[in-house]
Amino acid sequence: MACHAPAAGFGFDAAQACIELIRSKQNIMSRNIDCQGSCSHHDANTPHHDDHDASPSSTSRRRFLQSAAAAAAAGSAPYVHAQAQTPPAHASVARATVPPRAVKLDINGRAYTLQIEPRVTLLDALREYAGLMGTKKGCGRGQCGACTVLANGRRINSCLTLAVMHEGDAITTIEGLASNGTLSPVQRAFIEQDAFQCGYCTPGQICSATALLTEFDAGAASTVTADVRRRPPQLTQEEIRERMSGNICRCGAYVNIVAAVQSVHRGTVGSGTGDTYTTFVIKTSDVA
Ligand code: FES
Ligand code: FES
Repeated sequence: MACHAPAAGFGFDAAQACIELIRSKQNIMSRNIDCQGSCSHHDANTPHHDDHDASPSSTSRRRFLQSAAAAAAAGSAPYVHAQAQTPPAHASVARATVPPRAVKLDINGRAYTLQIEPRVTLLDALREYAGLMGTKKGCGRGQCGACTVLANGRRINSCLTLAVMHEGDAITTIEGLASNGTLSPVQRAFIEQDAFQCGYCTPGQICSATALLTEFDAGAASTVTADVRRRPPQLTQEEIRERMSGNICRCGAYVNIVAAVQSVHRGTVGSGTGDTYTTFVIKTSDVA
């Protein structure tokens, strides 16, 4: 039964009004069913009795409505009561305003001074303040890897860290991987291996793969490395899948992503010229 009582902030008064309305409707139904045309106020002049129909089908329909109303009242009352008793979370939390301050960031070799609050994430600082939209926001909670950037060469989820914590770090985003107009080997490999479809996860995948190759060359082991005391001679598909597992691709381009990383590792990436690369630039520039 829908309750259309005015909800003044959905506080206790509104909740109580809902319960009273349900009860009053129940009482009306109950009176109508019980009297069955024999009550003293069953008068043809009484407006609410105009539709009194004592036929069996009408009676059973009303009994059904009465049961449904009672069930709805019994089920909703504790919930409504609980809502009425629980103060809204924001009521007791004073939202302190934090004045913006100047945060100096080194992004892709360029110095930025951003006027931001200390609680702004690195991801939001990059996109909303520095205007670098290449880094993508997916989940915003460290689960998808779309926001991956490099901080001093290490891959990090920029949605999980504050911009103010990275003053003095060298931040590299997807926009900073190419140099002098030449795409990086990982970027070229992604094009050659057709390792993306919509392209939304691709900046994070490429940043992650770039750091992965550096980590592997530095001898870092993964959980699938058989002997962690010795670096495996080759990056196997299993190693790449494990090391890239923090980057989700909803288009499911995983087979091609692994092939792209492997081709960089093997040194079989092309020069970065030709129509294929031009198409890539056009395609990725469509993804905001
Ligand atoms: S947006 Fe950062 S991990 Fe998903
Ligand atoms: S290419 Fe679409 S989400 Fe990965």
